[in-house]
Amino acid sequence: METAFAEQIRTTFEQYKCLKSQHELCCVPVYDAKSHLIAWLKPVTFHWQETNPEFAQLFSRWREENPIGFANIFKITPERTTYWLENLVLRRDDRILFVIEDLKGQAIGHLGLSSFDYEQRNAEIDNVVRGRKSLIPGLMQFATWSLSAWALKRLELDTISLRVLSDNDHAIRFYERCGFDETGRIPLYKVETKDELKWIDHEPFPDASIDRYYVVMKLNPQVLQDHYNHWSV
Ligand SMILES: CC(C)(COP(=O)(O)OP(=O)(O)OC[C@H]1O[C@@H](n2cnc3c(N)ncnc32)[C@H](O)[C@@H]1OP(=O)(O)O)[C@@H](O)C(=O)NCCC(=O)NCCS
Repeated sequence: METAFAEQIRTTFEQYKCLKSQHELCCVPVYDAKSHLIAWLKPVTFHWQETNPEFAQLFSRWREENPIGFANIFKITPERTTYWLENLVLRRDDRILFVIEDLKGQAIGHLGLSSFDYEQRNAEIDNVVRGRKSLIPGLMQFATWSLSAWALKRLELDTISLRVLSDNDHAIRFYERCGFDETGRIPLYKVETKDELKWIDHEPFPDASIDRYYVVMKLNPQVLQDHYNHWSV
């Protein structure tokens, strides 16, 4: 049975994804360290194929250019990205994806939330990708903080975590800069099929060799308090 908290997350996400005709478009503001508005987190809604059909190509290209951020590698096509957005993001109760838009409306990257642990009131930061590399240095950090502050305050989460591949040094440094600390490691092993290379949880396959790890990190919420006194986190 769906708990009250799971229902609260599902209905809030349905609202942000504009599932029903009465749902208004809601965006999360991104402020820099001087409290200047620098971008918006704009949710990918059920209407993206009408409002932003370019997402299928754009997200495919961003994913293709950033394989280090993902634990599976396959031939990326706009059709596959469309399937992913429709079925594995929008139709999933505990997943949401935001596009990071600068104040001119240019899409710079995306990030989201997924894998809720309703009992622990924890969610994972998901799909963090900077598509446009040189615009607004620091934007990804501020976007991660805005999403985290929104998740703690608006969604009433207690904690925020993430998993990052152990050889993704740049992302690990980035998350440390954002205030995430390592809390553990999950061993992974490599599986190769005809059209996909993926790294999966090693635990059910103790005889297989460990190829990589997921580094599990948790946000220290004090970091948000220090930087955003206008958010009462
Ligand atoms: C992880 C990722 C999102 C981090 O993005 P990023 O562009 O490094 O993050 P920021 O926008 O916060 O910072 C950009 C740079 O500006 C710098 N910067 C931050 N604030 C600044 C400021 N006020 N003035 C000037 N520079 C600043 C940062 O130090 C950083 O420099 P670096 O590249 O030398 O480390 C990006 O590297 C990425 O898309 N990686 C591929 C996908 C991936 O691995 N995702 C994570 C999956 S778990």
